[in-house]
Amino acid sequence: MKSRIEILVSLLPSVDSLADVGCDHGQLTLLALENKKCKRAVISDVSEKCLLKAQTLLKNYVDLGVVKSICTDGLKGIEKVDLVVIAGMGGEETVAILNNSNFLPTHLLLQPMKNPEKVRKTLLSLGYFIEKDFTFFIGEKYYDVIKATIGKDNLTLEELEFGKTNVREKPVGFIKKLNAEKELLKGVLQKSGVSESSMAEVLKRLEKIEKYV
Ligand SMILES: C[S@@+](CC[C@H](N)C(=O)[O-])C[C@H]1O[C@@H](n2cnc3c(N)ncnc32)[C@H](O)[C@@H]1O
Repeated sequence: MKSRIEILVSLLPSVDSLADVGCDHGQLTLLALENKKCKRAVISDVSEKCLLKAQTLLKNYVDLGVVKSICTDGLKGIEKVDLVVIAGMGGEETVAILNNSNFLPTHLLLQPMKNPEKVRKTLLSLGYFIEKDFTFFIGEKYYDVIKATIGKDNLTLEELEFGKTNVREKPVGFIKKLNAEKELLKGVLQKSGVSESSMAEVLKRLEKIEKYV
């Protein structure tokens, strides 16, 4: 079975330059280089301690000048690259990094841990076309991944909420996640003492997800 990082790397386009923002351990950049997804990379993290892990893992590439490292908040001080990866951060943090950037890369690969809908809205307002946007299940967890490129796009309200590929192609990870949520909501309905307003919310959500499962 593939790891989360392997799945992310498999989705990367092949480019000259990549920035791995919030790189932490640096595994994504290592795998991207090994798989020839980029010729050079910038690893960055707001935490010096985290960045040191990536610098250690990628020492050979750093020594060769293939990888440059920078301790910074988001994309501040990073020169334009073709592809930016932001994985494992919250959606709001991801949005803030994109909105505060001095440049828009041609390609983005984003894996927000929360609030993916906020990331989708921001991508549309910045002028990105969403190529893929789906949920996958690995190591007992669900992850949302969004691959985008410069261009125009229009999403329905449902696509904004659930993800374009999820709505259009209903991949297994998405269906599994909704089935799990459905069971949870049905459990709430059977509980006693739930307020009328909470009950109404649960029923509304159930109606929404029952279109898919
Ligand atoms: C959960 S780790 C994810 C690491 C890696 N990207 C991955 O997907 O496995 C989040 C990393 O983002 C870093 N981080 C958080 N906010 C950041 C910011 N505004 N700019 C740069 N790095 C940030 C943290 O220090 C941490 O190393």
